[in-house]
Amino acid sequence: MKDYILAIDQGTTSSRALIFAPDGQVKSMAQQEFKQFYPHDGWVEHDPQQLWQSVVDTMREAIDNANISVESIATIGITNQRETTIVWDKQTGEPVYPAIVWQDRRTAAYCQTHQDDRALTNYISQTTGLLLDPYFSATKIAWILDNVEDARARANNGELLFGTVDTYLIWRLTNGASHVTDATNASRTMLFDINKQQWDERLLEIFNIPASMLPEVQDCASEFGKTEASVLGRSVPIQGVAGDQQAALIGQACFEKGMAKSTYGTGCFMILNTGDAPMISTNRLLTTVGYRINGKVTYALEGSIFMAGATVQWLRDGLKLISDAAESETLAEKSRKDNGVFLVPAFTGLGAPYWDPDARGAILGLTRDTGISEIVAAGLQSVCYQTKDLQKAMENDGARPVALRVDGGMAENDWVMAFLADILGAEVQRPQITETTAVGAAFLAGLQAGIYKSLHTLSECWQCEHVFEPRLSKEERDSAYKRWQEAVARIRCN
Ligand code: G3P
Repeated sequence: MKDYILAIDQGTTSSRALIFAPDGQVKSMAQQEFKQFYPHDGWVEHDPQQLWQSVVDTMREAIDNANISVESIATIGITNQRETTIVWDKQTGEPVYPAIVWQDRRTAAYCQTHQDDRALTNYISQTTGLLLDPYFSATKIAWILDNVEDARARANNGELLFGTVDTYLIWRLTNGASHVTDATNASRTMLFDINKQQWDERLLEIFNIPASMLPEVQDCASEFGKTEASVLGRSVPIQGVAGDQQAALIGQACFEKGMAKSTYGTGCFMILNTGDAPMISTNRLLTTVGYRINGKVTYALEGSIFMAGATVQWLRDGLKLISDAAESETLAEKSRKDNGVFLVPAFTGLGAPYWDPDARGAILGLTRDTGISEIVAAGLQSVCYQTKDLQKAMENDGARPVALRVDGGMAENDWVMAFLADILGAEVQRPQITETTAVGAAFLAGLQAGIYKSLHTLSECWQCEHVFEPRLSKEERDSAYKRWQEAVARIRCN
């Protein structure tokens, strides 16, 4: 039967491919890490060839592991690290420069210089929903055109193409036949008008980027092209695409206004479905396209924090307080309740809603009886408090998440999830399948291929594994959160 779905999840540190059965169950998975390049302080690059090869290898391995024939794969869905920027030659396919990764800060000085230009920053936020920041693709493309020899002239000549990772992969999978992206990835470039759903001419002019470089923007579930037969031995249609955080929103079946998901990886990305009208944040959250299906846009508010799983890594590798992530749960269980210790993990500044790049981390409230357990617990709690900061910012924007669906490595930690529910004062729901990003890509492709009938069918595939209910009283919750806010205030620079 031809109804398996192949999902490609091209992330920041590894590429993964998963085969899904039509009931949403994972049949097989393959994963490959690739090299990170840090050529200068604050610069992060990937080799596009390595990204491509790791995707091809993992696709083939996942098919082998599933013990199925390529003929039984109906469709392919792609999800990807967002904002990462690649520029390549239209004829040869040769990238003119390595991929500039979303974490790369090389254009910070440019953004800083223009931060006081209210007309510009307002225009960017009203048009794209974003803040003027090196995080997004626009200044990265401009940097390549300004710094790579001949790139500007070649781009003006129509010889170069730009793409986020989805676009580059599709271009290669289709042997140059499709130069396309989806609305979620486009919404992270800082060049896309999220209201009109088209590239914005004025922003292209401001960042001096020729329109001829840009891909066509499609619905998330649509025809993105067919893989060239040599890639998998048979041509397969690519029918679903979304940036990884939006794919997780879809994989978590957050299809109703007010539903939110939080993905705990190295950092944490929380996205709230805000329905069919964009809600521009006044609390320094990002407004973004949640998904676009059948031409209908669903918008979302997004907040990102830099240190989630990375805090646990630091407790393990930096302080050597634990030998593995699982031990943090055992230690936290032993910690004294309400011990007054707060760890603010501002190792690289603070993300949303503070956006304070100069803030630095601190551990506060130490007493003679503070031990390893209390510090580890404070590290874990910091992730929950930061999620609370995002929830609060969303509420201040007038959008209260009704419940939170969680995924990613830390979502496996029961102690953290129970505290998260306590501090949010909201239900935290953990799904049975935590591969939500890949599930989202598979859902989209399956929708377009007719394997799933509607978003409603997708909602039925989502199964809850555990619900964490809040146990703290409002007074206890408010008092704990107030002390966290005081701790954050102590380390802020702006
Ligand atoms: O915006 C960046 C985000 O898409 C990266 O996600 O999971 O690859 O670190 P991840």
